[in-house]
Amino acid sequence: MNNHWKSFWDKHVDKVSDDPFIQVGRTLNSEPMSNEMFQRYAARIIELLELESDHLVLDLCCGNGLLSTEVATHCSQVIGVDFSEKLIEGIGAREAKNIVGIVSDAMEIKFQPQSFHHIVMAAALQHFTEAQTIQLFKNMFLWLKPGGTILITDITDSGRIWNFYNSPEREDLYFEHTMNNKAILGTWFNRVWLEKLARHSGFSNAQALEQPNDYWFSHYRFDLLCRK
Ligand SMILES: C[S@@+](CC[C@H](N)C(=O)[O-])C[C@H]1O[C@@H](n2cnc3c(N)ncnc32)[C@H](O)[C@@H]1O
Repeated sequence: MNNHWKSFWDKHVDKVSDDPFIQVGRTLNSEPMSNEMFQRYAARIIELLELESDHLVLDLCCGNGLLSTEVATHCSQVIGVDFSEKLIEGIGAREAKNIVGIVSDAMEIKFQPQSFHHIVMAAALQHFTEAQTIQLFKNMFLWLKPGGTILITDITDSGRIWNFYNSPEREDLYFEHTMNNKAILGTWFNRVWLEKLARHSGFSNAQALEQPNDYWFSHYRFDLLCRK
């Protein structure tokens, strides 16, 4: 279990307001993402997954189920997994009844092989080390049905790290935090590294995708779509 991030999210939920966007860190300058922006974000994910009404979807690191709720209106059932009990409790308050929330570390949960048509992980890959990510890809490949897809969004792009740490002061913060093994956002990933990992894990196709230009964090994040 990665205790650093678990305690980070537990403390974060305790100290912020009940706004669901703020709870999962979907903020810019402390302001929550607009509902309109989030609807566009979710619609793009639903389109990329090519969801059908009888599909089963795993939402890994689902937080309070904001995205699970949108996905659930286009498929049969969403299983949401997150290690924050308080965030998972938020799922109960949502309208969609075809979401099951499970409190677990994504590295410890087990599913039967070929359980899901799709797996989505939004804005969470940075919380995993490279070693954990390799294990996670092997697990996700196992859990997916043949032809199924994984979509990982908002991946922190190592090639554009200085777009985030964009001043000498922020660069200093980066080096101090990284020295103490508490990097502010977590792990930064190389696109080719992820595409090669997908191939190594058995996926037949993997594609790093640019986010639309007007997304808040598109200047340092990208998405990855892989097919089994
Ligand atoms: C930025 S939030 C995104 C939540 C949600 N996916 C969304 O898009 O609204 C990151 C989430 O990852 C979860 N998380 C991080 N590492 C995890 C792990 N190892 N196992 C389960 N959940 C994890 C956190 O608790 C948090 O809810």
